[in-house]
Amino acid sequence: MEVVIQPDRWAATRLAARLIARQVAAKPSCVLGLATGMTMERVYAELVRLHGEEDLDFSLVRTFNLDEYIGIDPGHPGSYRYYMNKKLFDHVNVDVRNTHLPHGTAPDLDEECRRYEALIGACGGIDLQLLGIGRSGHIGFNEPLSALQSRTRAKALTPTTIAQNRDHFDPPSSMPRRGITMGVGTILEARECLLLVTGDSKAGVLAKAVEGPVTSMISATALQLHPRCKVIADEEAAAHLEQKEYYRWIFENEPEWQEFR
Ligand code: F6R
Repeated sequence: MEVVIQPDRWAATRLAARLIARQVAAKPSCVLGLATGMTMERVYAELVRLHGEEDLDFSLVRTFNLDEYIGIDPGHPGSYRYYMNKKLFDHVNVDVRNTHLPHGTAPDLDEECRRYEALIGACGGIDLQLLGIGRSGHIGFNEPLSALQSRTRAKALTPTTIAQNRDHFDPPSSMPRRGITMGVGTILEARECLLLVTGDSKAGVLAKAVEGPVTSMISATALQLHPRCKVIADEEAAAHLEQKEYYRWIFENEPEWQEFR
């Protein structure tokens, strides 16, 4: 795991977007794993800008989102399909047939989860998985006690996650209580992971995720097991990290970060 601390959420977002753009430029037909949420809105705005102003080309890119709510259809404004279309897919030259999210209204959810895993495999696996962290420590909807080897499956959401996301629904009480999510094991199979964390509300959980023991109580700790995981945090989110100076030293001295300093 590598931790990069940026001065503010804008710098952190730009760095995450540049790493994604570098992946797309290096392998135009790459498979991107995508996340939703407030943190990612800024990343997608930056990717849209890079597409418009610097010709970042998504024409061959394939995408798989981490998760989707159960029981609402893709046209629902609270669905993650709707979010992805509005924030990214409608504004870049991706072929929408190459963009995938679990179907939250599938009649057989177990079958849907198997189909999703098989499709990721058929596309050759995920090259770069973008991740945010929830206040419960989740990645995707892998809530506390998610097995570290879990696969795509239906999952009940915690009260913490419902409190975090309910205002995206009208009325908030209509927020679904369950989602389909890639498993922790599915996420760990991505060739590279990129966790973006901003804001002081995430400082406590980020410190546990990066510097605490690996535990299924905080799914993001599983990223410590991944051989190629980058964590980008702004100063606010990094506030409780004990080894900040060490992370800064690595960023200043590792040649791989030279083009980003
Ligand atoms: C959603 C997802 C979640 C979010 C997390 C942070 O697809 O993967 O893990 O990344 O809940 O959400 P925000 O950015 O809204 O705080």
